[in-house]
Amino acid sequence: MLSLSNLPTPACLIDKVKMQNNIARLSTHIGSLGCRIRPHVKTHKSVEITQAIFEGGNASGITVSTLKEAKHFFAHGYKDVLYAVGIVPSKLEDVAQLLNQGCHLTIILDSVDMATRVVDSASAFGCIFPVMIELDTDGHRSGADPQGQEIINIANVLHQSEHTELKGVMTHAGESYNCFSHEEQRTIARQERDLSILAANRIRQQGIECAEVSIGSTPTAFAIDDLTGITEVRAGVYVLFDLVMAGLQVCKNENIAMSVLASVIGHQQHKDWVITDAGWMAMSRDRGTASHPVDQGYGLVCTVEGKVKADFIIADANQEHGILQHRNGSSETAISSFPLASKLRILPNHACSTAAQYDHFFLVENDTVLAELSTISGW
Ligand SMILES: Cc1ncc(COP(=O)(O)O)c(C=O)c1O
Repeated sequence: MLSLSNLPTPACLIDKVKMQNNIARLSTHIGSLGCRIRPHVKTHKSVEITQAIFEGGNASGITVSTLKEAKHFFAHGYKDVLYAVGIVPSKLEDVAQLLNQGCHLTIILDSVDMATRVVDSASAFGCIFPVMIELDTDGHRSGADPQGQEIINIANVLHQSEHTELKGVMTHAGESYNCFSHEEQRTIARQERDLSILAANRIRQQGIECAEVSIGSTPTAFAIDDLTGITEVRAGVYVLFDLVMAGLQVCKNENIAMSVLASVIGHQQHKDWVITDAGWMAMSRDRGTASHPVDQGYGLVCTVEGKVKADFIIADANQEHGILQHRNGSSETAISSFPLASKLRILPNHACSTAAQYDHFFLVENDTVLAELSTISGW
């Protein structure tokens, strides 16, 4: 059995118990509200982690962010797939191939123009494309206005075509990532829910079926208190959590299941810097906590056993060098805490970005390496 001391660094670790607890927490919450989770697998792109989510209960179907993920997960038995990034007609051939192989793949779009283009292209493929209308409930990113005319026009275009089937509406309340209290997150979550139901009902009033109402982000999934009228909740990063989610108080640092194992490769005595072999290639360039009340640099430092050392962060990073420094006011020096050639762990700002830097993870329990997990990248 391998232990952490045998692993080359940098390496991406997934703490099994923490991951299982995170899975159970959302599964219990969404289950208690009588709903299901459609996990977003883009966070880890790992079949083994997805399997753990399904074993945790209350999951049905998956969400993907690339067609490569759709193909990969379908090849591993996941048939009910929502591709939750806006479609363009040039991707329909790949979508059609999956549909014709028996994958129940749903695509999304948010304009009449794109719906018309999809409908015009769809006839070439001999299949019916399931489509959801993407809504914007908080001005965060893409999506059509749930209260506007556009969604009615999109629904009509999709309904009238024999090559498309309107499955429902979906949204992602990305604005929740700017909410630092549970109350604010609950307000955004209720808005996400209410505007999605309103949009679905407005489409239904046209005599057009709109079966699915799909919402979700990790902060709103935990904050929502009533899911009446919602058919599924999508969430991704909750499985592993990260410093951004801890900064938003959605979890604690101790719940973060992903960490990067690094080695101390040098000391700069006069500056009290500890140089590690985990630079931004190992951590990612994501500085998601930069705008938070507590800026965690490129990551928060832990002992090799995983105990958070709240006074130490990776303050700066180059491609393969991380510069570990103490925060102002720390009573310990960095160099005395992290001897040369010793190992440490670093919690990531954004689990999805850090995961994307690796082609495999190590599933660990305490010091023991239980398994190597595969992941995919690219489009
Ligand atoms: C469309 C969509 N749904 C769901 C999610 C999951 O959000 P989170 O990682 O906060 O759970 C995302 C994340 O970006 C998304 O883009």
